[in-house]
Amino acid sequence: MTAQPQTTGHREQPLLEVRDFQVELITDAGIIRAVDSVSFSIHRGETVTIIGESGSGKSTTAMGILRLLPEDLAVLSGTVLIDGVDVTADPKAIDKVRGKTLALIPQDPMTALSPVHSIGRQLFEAIRIAGAASAKDKDAVQARAIRLLEQVHIPTPEKQLKKYPHQLSGGMLQRVLIAIALASEPQLLVADEPTSALDVTVQGGILDLLLELQEQRGIGILMITHDLGVARLISDRIHVMKDGRFVESGDVQQIVDHPATEYTRALLAAVPVLGPWDETPTASTGESRGAPGAHASEITTDPATDSALTQTGASHD
Ligand SMILES: Nc1ncnc2c1ncn2[C@@H]1O[C@H](COP(=O)(O)OP(=O)(O)OP(=O)(O)O)[C@@H](O)[C@H]1O
Ligand SMILES: [Mg+2]
Repeated sequence: MTAQPQTTGHREQPLLEVRDFQVELITDAGIIRAVDSVSFSIHRGETVTIIGESGSGKSTTAMGILRLLPEDLAVLSGTVLIDGVDVTADPKAIDKVRGKTLALIPQDPMTALSPVHSIGRQLFEAIRIAGAASAKDKDAVQARAIRLLEQVHIPTPEKQLKKYPHQLSGGMLQRVLIAIALASEPQLLVADEPTSALDVTVQGGILDLLLELQEQRGIGILMITHDLGVARLISDRIHVMKDGRFVESGDVQQIVDHPATEYTRALLAAVPVLGPWDETPTASTGESRGAPGAHASEITTDPATDSALTQTGASHD
């Protein structure tokens, strides 16, 4: 169920290419090498997951790639090419791609959104920044906002636009963050634990949504998680991170079925049982994401539960 690249047949340049990337953080206690020489790449339609224990350097990798770490406290080295643009060589280069080619789905919906502005206002702002609709044309901005909310399966979008973050459930807010990330029609989404704050039932719905968007639009996804169950369901490739380094990398089946390190086995052991592994071989493209034909909502009791839950959540305040 890997999305096919939407462009022509030949293997084009990766959306993201990271080579010998290193991040040193300057702290009171000294310099910490939080990311130590990692290399990986993501093509259109692929999901690549970085998994690892807390403090292993996952977020620092993502934030470093997006150049969201404070310049004076984080020293980057190595090469990061985003759709061919080298964002390590020139700090300004990131402005050309962030919010255009590249968008971030941040981890915590409650802190990522402003509590004092309506959902609509925050989404309109994202649409204006993306230049996706003429900022002066209010109707066009509103129509685009509604389309985005529909895309992330938010019911009665017109009503939701008027609401404030505290009036929506966690699952709905996470959808709003995805809608905001999609406002700019990015080709690459970086999702830092997009479901870890959520109930497992809602989690499945969000993962399904990301997979659906990927199938429709062929976007690349960099997924960050500490949950091998999540990684297994959605990834093409997995990089296992520990102490700033990749200790193991490979396609999802290899990592899950034949973990090479004790560390990965421990991560695996922490995953709840999700049912039998489907051994059906995938097509000869070499793509093998999770259990073929699997849907993330397998980890929920019922895919409908998400919307039922979030509807309930939406009405509470
Ligand atoms: N602002 C900071 N000041 C000092 N050290 C930091 C800072 N941010 C991160 N670190 C250190 O960098 C390392 C990597 O942290 P990072 O947040 O990237 O881990 P993570 O894998 O995302 O963990 P989690 O799963 O808990 O989100 C850790 O050793 C952490 O203590
Ligand atoms: Mg983190």
